[in-house]
Amino acid sequence: MNIFLYGPPGSGKSSIGRELAARLRRPFVDSDEMIVARAGLTIPEIFEQQGEAGFRRLESEVCAELAALADHVIALGGGALLDAHNRSALERNGLIICLRAGPPELLARLQGSAEDRPLLAGDDPSMRLATLLAARRSVYDSFPAQVDTSGKTIAQVVDEIDSLLTPRSIWIDTPGLKHEIVLGYGLLNALPSLLTERGLHEPTLVVTDENVARCLPIDALHLPSVVLPAGEAHKTLDTVRLLYDKFLDHHLDRRSIVIALGGGVVGDLTGFAAATFMRGLRWVNVPTSLLAMVDASLGAKTGVDLPRGKNLVGAFHPPALVVSDPLVLATLPEAERISGMAEVVKHGIIGDVDLFESIESSPASFGSIVHIQRAVDVKVRVVTADPFEQGERAKLNLGHTIGHGLEAASDYTLRHGEAVAIGLVGEARLAERIGLADHGLADRIAQVIKRIGLPTSYRGDSVAIRNAMSTDKKKSGSKLKFALPMRIGEVVWEVEVDEDVLLDTLRGLTNT
Ligand SMILES: NC(=O)c1ccc[n+]([C@@H]2O[C@H](COP(=O)([O-])OP(=O)(O)OC[C@H]3O[C@@H](n4cnc5c(N)ncnc54)[C@H](O)[C@@H]3O)[C@@H](O)[C@H]2O)c1
Ligand SMILES: [Zn+2]
Repeated sequence: MNIFLYGPPGSGKSSIGRELAARLRRPFVDSDEMIVARAGLTIPEIFEQQGEAGFRRLESEVCAELAALADHVIALGGGALLDAHNRSALERNGLIICLRAGPPELLARLQGSAEDRPLLAGDDPSMRLATLLAARRSVYDSFPAQVDTSGKTIAQVVDEIDSLLTPRSIWIDTPGLKHEIVLGYGLLNALPSLLTERGLHEPTLVVTDENVARCLPIDALHLPSVVLPAGEAHKTLDTVRLLYDKFLDHHLDRRSIVIALGGGVVGDLTGFAAATFMRGLRWVNVPTSLLAMVDASLGAKTGVDLPRGKNLVGAFHPPALVVSDPLVLATLPEAERISGMAEVVKHGIIGDVDLFESIESSPASFGSIVHIQRAVDVKVRVVTADPFEQGERAKLNLGHTIGHGLEAASDYTLRHGEAVAIGLVGEARLAERIGLADHGLADRIAQVIKRIGLPTSYRGDSVAIRNAMSTDKKKSGSKLKFALPMRIGEVVWEVEVDEDVLLDTLRGLTNT
């Protein structure tokens, strides 16, 4: 995995890059130096003779070359990733870390070298820097891996990057469900060695879907694979039967290991087929969507839908290992990334104030490993406390009671994360209405959700939503039971709500 250092001028990409490369014993490359060597001119000379457009052309050529490298540390020019094509080429071949610092510190670090930087040269570098930062802020903000270099030495920043790169191991340590979750950048490439290290080296088969197979380098795993059609519509017993056939074709037996490589649909299907084929095969879950990383891959639930409802058939079947590599999110469609953030917010509300506040205040990026880890930790804590869904695990239903009603009432035109986002706001309003939560909680949640780009209201019929909620299989007995927030970080469950208050709250969600 390459490590690309990016960020505004003065953020320390080259000096930190050199030090990081030395620490990691990897070759170091500076994209600006490559451009200079290629053109035989200094950067100011290139700008003078060929204009900024000429410089950017050279830069794109260099980025294409950099994308073909492996295991390098690479410092990129501050404008290199303004071009979406350069960005996606590099993003698919490594981790981009955006280094940041406040304008005064950037300016101080640039003292004496502004004339070498054509975009900052002139009478008032401070003004020019401010203009450049304003124009590029949304791009710099959009990288999931951000490191603030303010007031830090190079060695301190290198330490921070080093810890960002170190895989973390999290355990679901409960009888009957015990297994490890490894989370780290670049782990997909390391999958064969991760499996071998854990003694999982029997014959394996990879199950994935057509989108994932197109986007991710599954051939590099050198394992036989089954590619399923993508989407919830295929999370059925028919697909499970097809998997059984493929398992038989590949001569799998009880020693075999099946690897689910995909979103929650592939994970649920493969896990269920593994749970039931020959009374149980070992399986490894490699979630590739944000939702699957922070939710579906955790807790050992597997299953499929029936025509009369979602997830009506299933089994608890813990994987031997879960491997989450946030780098794979680079190819996940934007709408899926945004949708997955609803579950990250949910986990913040359920049990991590710092996570919620970090989403509230951090740049609008998706897939930060820090956010993923914190969200995973919340779910792991809840699942460990209640492995087989006897009580506390109902907390995880936060946002989902109204959310499921919305999904069904919209005929599943709303994405799951969109429905959950509206559900989180609706259920927080409900909590305020019945005096469980302080006034203002729902607005605070709505603000975060809007900032992520998720909806907080739905144009539709509130009675239809209410009726659709009645078919929620998670209700016990005849009355709906809600998980409701008291405050950020604290949720209670099994709350019954007066029907009129519920209907009025739903009306509020559809009127706004
Ligand atoms: N078992 C559980 O505890 C649990 C918990 C929550 C949700 N779920 C289930 O998870 C499912 C939803 O999961 P999901 O949102 O991941 O849906 P999904 O598996 O359908 O993935 C969403 C889309 O993204 C594509 N995709 C996934 N990873 C990609 C990547 N890296 N690059 C490009 N495309 C990629 C998929 O092909 C699909 O089109 C539902 O069926 C839900 O019931 C299960
Ligand atoms: Zn969900």
